[in-house]
Amino acid sequence: MGKMDSTQDTMPRAPTAPRDFTVLGIETSCDETAASVVRGRPGAPGQILSNLVLSQFDEHAPYGGVVPEIAARAHVDHLDGLIAAALRDADLSLADMDAVAATAGPGLTGGLMVGLVTGKALAFAAHTAFVAVNHLEAHALTARLVAATPFPYLVLLVSGGHCQLLEARGVGAYTLLGTTRDDAVGEAFDKTAKLLGLGYPGGPQVEKWARDGNSARFDLPRPMTGRPGADFSFAGLKTALRQQVTRLAPLSRSDRADAAASFQAAVADTLEDRTRNAMRQVRAAATGDRPLPFVVAGGVAANKVLRARLDSLAAQEGFILTAPPPALCTDNAAMVAWAGIERLALGLTDKLDTGPRARWPLAQRA
Ligand code: KG4
Ligand code: ZN
Repeated sequence: MGKMDSTQDTMPRAPTAPRDFTVLGIETSCDETAASVVRGRPGAPGQILSNLVLSQFDEHAPYGGVVPEIAARAHVDHLDGLIAAALRDADLSLADMDAVAATAGPGLTGGLMVGLVTGKALAFAAHTAFVAVNHLEAHALTARLVAATPFPYLVLLVSGGHCQLLEARGVGAYTLLGTTRDDAVGEAFDKTAKLLGLGYPGGPQVEKWARDGNSARFDLPRPMTGRPGADFSFAGLKTALRQQVTRLAPLSRSDRADAAASFQAAVADTLEDRTRNAMRQVRAAATGDRPLPFVVAGGVAANKVLRARLDSLAAQEGFILTAPPPALCTDNAAMVAWAGIERLALGLTDKLDTGPRARWPLAQRA
C-alpha cells in the first residue's frame, strides 16, 4: 500500500479536470446583511443556489445615512439566521461547501468583523477552506458570475463608496485608469436625495423622481468632462445643485423632479465622458478591432438611465457592455461567493487570522 503511494507520487500527474465549487458567501461591509450559496467554476456562468439580502434601510432611514454602530448590531442580529436560510434555500448543509467566503474589506470595520468572525468560525467548524474577499473585487467579478466575461475587461465600478475605471486583467490583477477626486457617485446620489427630501437610500429615489422631471431645467456643471484621463469629481456638481435648490426653497413636486432629472443627466454625461476616454485608452493598447468587453458594476449600475447611456457608448466605441441584473449590482453575497469560487479555483485561500481591512484598494494607477 505504502509502495503504491510512493510510486504514484513520482508519476507525472495528469492535470486535474476543472470541477465545480460550491461556496457560501457572506456580505456585511455596509448596510446590507447578505448570505448566498453559489456553485460553479471560472469560465462558465455560475449557478446561484440561494441569495438572501436583508437591507437595513428602516434602521438607518431616520438618520439619512448609514450609522456604523447600528449597522454592526443589525448584522449581529440577523447574520446567523440568514446563513441558515441561505443553506436551506440551496438545499445544502455546511458540509457540502468547498469554502466559506466573507467580505474582509473595504467597508465599516464593525460590520466586517461580524461577517469575518462568522465566516471563519463556520469554515473552521466544517473543516473547509476560508476565503477573505475584497468587496470591490466581488463587484468587479460579478460579470463573470452572470456572463463568464473573459479577462481582460474594462470595469466602471460605481457604488456608494467608489467611482473607478479599472482594467481587470485577472483575479487579483487590476489596473486603475481613473478614480474620483472627491465624492463617490453613489454618495452624490444619496446627498442629492437628502437635499431634495426624497428619502433614503437615495439612488433609487433620484432615479424614480427623475422620470417625471425636466433634465434641462437646472444648469449644472459636468466636472472633469473634456479633460484628458479618466478621473471623476462630483463635489462641484453637488454644490451647484445645492445653491440653485436653496434659492427655490420650499420645493414643489416639479422642482424636485426637475432637480433629480438635471442631476442624473449631469452624472450620465460625466460617466459617459470619462468612460469614453478609458475605452479609447484600452482600445489603443489592444490588438485587432474586435469588440472588447466592458462591465459596469456596483449599486449605481442598477440605474436604468445610466445603463442605457453606457450601452450606447459601448456600441459607439466598439465595446460590448455586460451589466449584471440590478439585484446583483447592489450589495449582495452571491458576488462574494463567486469571488470565493474564483480565488479557490486558483488555490487562493486565507488563514483564520485574517482581519478586517477598512481600506483595501483594489488597484494601483498604471
Ligand atoms: O454597491 P452598493 O450597494 O454599496 C456600496 O458598496 O457602496 O452601492 C450603493 C449605492 C448607494 O449610494 C445607492 O444610492 C446607489 O448605490 N444606488 C443607485 C441606484 N441604486 C442604488 N444610484 C443610482 N440609481 C439607482 N437606481
Ligand atoms: Zn458595494
